[in-house]
Amino acid sequence: MSRLLVFDSGLGGLTVLAAIRKARPDADVLYLADDAFFPYGALPEQALVARVLGVMAEAIPAARPDAVVIACNTASTLVLPPLRAAFEVPFVGTVPAIKPAAAASHTKRISVLATPGTVARDYTRALIAEHAGDCRVTLVGAPGLAALAEAALSGAPAPDTAIAAEIAPCFVADEAARTDAVVLACTHYPLLVERLHRLAPWPVAWLDPAPAIARRVVSLLGAARPGAPAGRGEARFTSGRPPLPAIRAALAERGLACG
Ligand code: DGL
Repeated sequence: MSRLLVFDSGLGGLTVLAAIRKARPDADVLYLADDAFFPYGALPEQALVARVLGVMAEAIPAARPDAVVIACNTASTLVLPPLRAAFEVPFVGTVPAIKPAAAASHTKRISVLATPGTVARDYTRALIAEHAGDCRVTLVGAPGLAALAEAALSGAPAPDTAIAAEIAPCFVADEAARTDAVVLACTHYPLLVERLHRLAPWPVAWLDPAPAIARRVVSLLGAARPGAPAGRGEARFTSGRPPLPAIRAALAERGLACG
């Protein structure tokens, strides 16, 4: 049996959790959302590093996980090195799926849809230089899309017009070709995937890294034992605020009780 700590600033990590649950239904999971500091996308880098290290310093000794999944691009593109230096437990990060997008693109026009923090990272630029040298890459720092995804999940208004405006800069057409692949480089965005398909000005491939993260977890911890009982799941929020009924239901649907 394995114990996993899955961490995000909010509810975006649920998209990663779903893929992990499929791959390792027997694992016990603690889902930890740092909603007290949501959104991470606008935080200065030093403040974000200090915050994530502080949260992990409390959570890891208490949960004693076999692995920690940082289900957040905004954090992973910055804090994985200090986390690995500070704790012995293995960390699995979530970083923009630029390599698969470059491979999937026929027009060699790809866009990276992320938080303003993720698009500003040296790490993201290095991934582009290493894996997408043959592509024209458009970086789109969406200021409000993660919050719109949280709103949609909690039953609050998340208008189509607002979502369409956030994704519009991803769609670039030049004299020769147009964008055909968009990297979902924030774990919140796959929560909106049906609407992204519907609101896109033209069809593109939307790349969600969750299945690759689940495969990495399996390669680290091994496969599920056949016939093993389903693992337990619990969600905790750093704010201590009780989740709204719609969120509670979304967590229950994903096998998470509220702690
Ligand atoms: N889910 C997060 C990510 O993958 C960030 C959202 C936020 O807190 O701004 O980047």
